[in-house]
Amino acid sequence: IFRATVLDTPDDPFTGGALRVDHDGGIAVEHDGIVCARGGFADVVRDYPDAEVVDLRPGLLLPGFVDTHVHLPQVRVIGALGMPLLDWLDKCALPEEARMADPAYARAVGAEILRGLVAAGTTSALVFGAHFRPAMEAFADAVHESGLRITTGLVVADRVLPESLLTTPQRAYDDAVALADAWADTGLRYAVTPRFSLSSSSELLDACGAVAYARPDVFVTSHVNENPVEVERVRELHGTDYVSTYEKYGLLGGSTVLAHNVHPSDDELRLLAARRTSVAHCPTSNSALGSGLFPLRRHRLAGVRVALGSDVGAGTGLSLLKEGLQAYFMQQLLGNQGEPLTAAHLLHLATAAGADALGLHQVGDLSVGKEFDAVWVSPRSDGVLAGALEHAKDAEDALAKVFALGTDADLGGVWIGGQVPLARHTLV
Ligand code: GUN
Ligand code: FE
Repeated sequence: IFRATVLDTPDDPFTGGALRVDHDGGIAVEHDGIVCARGGFADVVRDYPDAEVVDLRPGLLLPGFVDTHVHLPQVRVIGALGMPLLDWLDKCALPEEARMADPAYARAVGAEILRGLVAAGTTSALVFGAHFRPAMEAFADAVHESGLRITTGLVVADRVLPESLLTTPQRAYDDAVALADAWADTGLRYAVTPRFSLSSSSELLDACGAVAYARPDVFVTSHVNENPVEVERVRELHGTDYVSTYEKYGLLGGSTVLAHNVHPSDDELRLLAARRTSVAHCPTSNSALGSGLFPLRRHRLAGVRVALGSDVGAGTGLSLLKEGLQAYFMQQLLGNQGEPLTAAHLLHLATAAGADALGLHQVGDLSVGKEFDAVWVSPRSDGVLAGALEHAKDAEDALAKVFALGTDADLGGVWIGGQVPLARHTLV
């Protein structure tokens, strides 16, 4: 039984749901990692008198965070300033991605990102992979040891990018099917991953669509409508709007996650909603690259599913607390076109909305019957968060302070399926 004040958002605050709060709550977890009881601590203890008690007071217990867009080969290039998207790709991201041709390098980077995700309280992620199949095989090994819930795939491109990163449509098809087959039933889920339409011929997108058609269990992920120059070049190359470049090849659906969508037309939003495709909103990346202010209200009014992504390495770190805060800032900066966000919205975006986008119905909140994926906010003693929490007006105020002030150093524990993941300590 985990004893703490428990906060989660099983009811969507965007449709009237409120933050769920159990002051001095108890969550009983079976040995298989499933939550079997939840409520006031005294009540739960009465029902399970022999259970071991893990006392997490005076901290807060939240659902594990879900990062719906983060790049495996970019952890070592976080923090570049002063470049728009296409310059940043040329000068910063792609030279680092070329180093992933060495599987030993890929393995080290993979362990680094998995440790970083867990340190940030992230328990599930859709990871944008590398352009090299041996790198993805090395990463898969690291994922299996880590205990994280990961969806990922080989990134493919056949034009515009440096030669060493390119493939062919046939090879893209064969590699994706081989990796998806190898990973079936291992817990690691495959994502068909064309980098973006700008680096894809029609034939490559068609090959990606063929994999998704042949393997209905796989996810699809890519980028969309991130930067105005990029959007214009995609129109010149493909002759349609950006979302239609994916629609045309069968790449939209409920298991597709497209990152950014900062500059959509109303028609594009309607199509994304009709296909139940999710958008990964990546606010520190959009801010760092100057990509623009994300029109969250237009997404919500159109009925498009939205979750959060760190977009490391354009994003400035793996913390979804930071992304949540930046999402809040961005809506404030949009003035009367912004969507006013509360701490409950931020928590929902970082947890339940992410789980929904990734089709992970067994996680996202801490209800009975879910798997126990959780993060313990336990403020470091030498910071200001501890005092701020002690004097918070109520639970929602406390949660706002966690988003404003919380860092990795304030996370005292992480569980995935009731277990402390290996990546928390020893993954190399
Ligand atoms: N578009 C295509 N590749 C990338 C990438 O690596 N990062 C971002 N932010 N946008 C992209
Ligand atoms: Fe990205």
